[in-house]
Amino acid sequence: MAKQSGPSNIAVIGMEWGDEGKGKIIDFLAEKADVVARFNGGNNAGHTIEVGDKKIVLHLVPSGVMHKDKLNVVGNGLVIDSKVLLQEIKFLEKNGIKISPENLVISENAHVILPHHIEEDKKIGGAIGTTSRGIGPAYSDKAARIGLKVYEVVDENIFRKRVGSEEFYQEYKGYADALKPYVNDTSTIINYAIEKSKKILFEGAQGTLLDIDHGTYPFVTSSNTTAGGVCTGLGISPKKVQSVMGVCKAYKTRVGMGPFPTEITGAIGEKIQKIGKEFGATTGRQRRVGWFDSLVGKYAVMINGIDSIALTKLDVFTTIDKLKICVAYKHKGNILKNFTTNIKVLQDCQPVYEEMDGWWDDLTKIKNYEQLPNNAKKYLRRIEELLKVPISIISVGPKREQTIVARNEFLI
Ligand code: IMP
Repeated sequence: MAKQSGPSNIAVIGMEWGDEGKGKIIDFLAEKADVVARFNGGNNAGHTIEVGDKKIVLHLVPSGVMHKDKLNVVGNGLVIDSKVLLQEIKFLEKNGIKISPENLVISENAHVILPHHIEEDKKIGGAIGTTSRGIGPAYSDKAARIGLKVYEVVDENIFRKRVGSEEFYQEYKGYADALKPYVNDTSTIINYAIEKSKKILFEGAQGTLLDIDHGTYPFVTSSNTTAGGVCTGLGISPKKVQSVMGVCKAYKTRVGMGPFPTEITGAIGEKIQKIGKEFGATTGRQRRVGWFDSLVGKYAVMINGIDSIALTKLDVFTTIDKLKICVAYKHKGNILKNFTTNIKVLQDCQPVYEEMDGWWDDLTKIKNYEQLPNNAKKYLRRIEELLKVPISIISVGPKREQTIVARNEFLI
């Protein structure tokens, strides 16, 4: 297929409650990219990438790292646990992935997660089922203007003044010294890369419904996971983001608490959970499983301005006889056509489904759209119709090569 000229940068955004497969999609797209830049969250994220016989789960380092010669940027919108970041760098190096300031830069303006944030999260996070990584408390300190920024930690004089305990200072000074070479003014770096027409992927963590403003509050994370977060989390103008790709699963999943109208309980749910290996990459928790919810999809398209969709895990549906797509909610006798983040309403919504026939063919070796079984194509077309957005990528397995490009004009 001849490549039409596509955008030079793409924001890759989760359309649901995270775990949509963004890591795999970014890794796939990164081959053509110069820069991969994370803009939100922290080590609550777990981006799984499988290349050859290696399976790598990344929590903080952007997903471009599996390719040589890409610049990976950790933006100011993140909260960073320096101990975890250093462990991740060590783990990558053990796996033959060389990390240096040439391929990894960390924003001096990102905030840091400290041990007391983790302790606090363990105490108060239970009510919504957080990842207990200190994310919420670190962002709370940022908003309260008492947080500690990366540049303050790596500056010995400032850091010594900001912390009371000598023992703590010694431990964190060790981390700070190790991270110092990576710390930089990442906004200037990204804006320069944009000016030079470099190919850039803006990597989102979590998903639209976990956004602090646009998600199902309070069952959300503490950052802006949606496309708007690209600008604030990296320091670039909205005018510079050329294209937005939404990543969604063929079915839905959710970890942690909160309403989930299309949740499937019983044998089919367990089957999808098992075939799809739906266990959290960060906490190992079982993910709740649900049918495709087109109200959630349309909402994510609206909030993020999604141009095309990367749909993952279509292979998991093989052998599921009847597939359901939610096309409306029933709420106290009324029919709702649009998603709502009002959880009081959402928790009383019953899904209205359309049913479609499934397929029995193994999809995991299929290389192009035409080879997909007819019922799979019908399923994809129905999603495109309902969301009014084309599907550009279809993922049929965890490996890089198990990726079908349906429309390459949306790729960089
Ligand atoms: P926190 O981000 O640790 O504060 O957790 C808040 C909510 O977001 C919880 O329901 C978590 O399970 C969920 N969450 C945070 N990060 C991820 C992710 O990367 N994937 C899926 N769920 C996540």
